[in-house]
Amino acid sequence: MTLKIAVMPGDGIGPEITAQAVKVLEALKTDGLNIEFEHALIGGVAYREKGVPLPEETVALAKASDAVLFGAVGDFSLDTLPRHLRPEQAILGIRKALNLFANFRPAMVYDELADASTLRPEIVAGLDILIVRELTGDIYFGTPRGNRIAEDGPFKGEREAFDTMRYAETEIRRIAHVAFQAAQKRGGKLCSVDKANVLETTQFWRDIVTEVGKEYSDVELSHMYVDNCAMQLLKNPKQFDVIVTGNLFGDILSDEASMLTGSIGMLPSASLNESNFGLYEPIHGSAPDIAGKDLANPMATVLSAAMMLRYTFGLEDYANRIESAVKTVLATGPRTGDIWRDGKARTGTAGMGDAIVAALAKQQ
Ligand code: IPM
Ligand code: MN
Repeated sequence: MTLKIAVMPGDGIGPEITAQAVKVLEALKTDGLNIEFEHALIGGVAYREKGVPLPEETVALAKASDAVLFGAVGDFSLDTLPRHLRPEQAILGIRKALNLFANFRPAMVYDELADASTLRPEIVAGLDILIVRELTGDIYFGTPRGNRIAEDGPFKGEREAFDTMRYAETEIRRIAHVAFQAAQKRGGKLCSVDKANVLETTQFWRDIVTEVGKEYSDVELSHMYVDNCAMQLLKNPKQFDVIVTGNLFGDILSDEASMLTGSIGMLPSASLNESNFGLYEPIHGSAPDIAGKDLANPMATVLSAAMMLRYTFGLEDYANRIESAVKTVLATGPRTGDIWRDGKARTGTAGMGDAIVAALAKQQ
């Protein structure tokens, strides 16, 4: 069977970094990986060419494919468009259209980069945590939302805006199962993050996660308020194994966790549905300031391709090979500017892709 990958480069550095991941996957063809690629427009580029950030044919291609490799969306010059036409709507829309409710965001510190964090090396060395973020519910998608003139209260008659934080039982249950199972395969610890002291939605979250936890007696479940979690991530991040949380808290905490590792250019992610179909993307954005300059670090996207092989296709060996090639390059190869240090050769986006391919070739 040929694995059919939909490639959605998107905006900014998206095309450069996805090209490197495709190059790395192509290189595995000689070792028996049967894979083919089809490209589709998404984000600002799609808006410019088709008038919408998420064209129907892009969603259709994703549905007809075995997995999606995604670059990044975002374009400052389109920020003044009505919200439904902005590039960010493309990623929110495709997550929803494909029901990609389970978002895996690992944050790990490579030995070679332990001094790249703004925290002291002893706080972060050896760090390996996984944030499981619910991705299709919460205040991101809850209705009603909008703008209106306040009809009551002390600000009656003024303009106001509102969103709705909302979770259904099914949504919490399914992400809880995913997170418990992830913890079973790792260190056996799960920390559920909420704001149960204030918000009904997240008290409900805590209750349901606790219920689901009864089915996983081998996993040690704890609960933490999100404000405390934000603090603990800086104070003692290695206390965590797997963190599970809602869409909004997960968005914020995963950015925080990424900085523990020193470079946001290193971190991959997977967004999965019930049947392990997935969209794989680096957690960084489109970085328009360095787009087209061969400066971006493609490792997060290459590592996202490795996650694809593992999570959607169960091809653990190929995934391990890519990850170990990345480690080889970190140890001995050239580096892009974001992780460059004295004594290391310097390279660009394509050079980093080539170095990973070369490291793969040397493995046998
Ligand atoms: C992310 C991003 C998106 C989000 C934006 C671009 C809509 O920040 O993937 O974390 O908020 O989910
Ligand atoms: Mn984010």
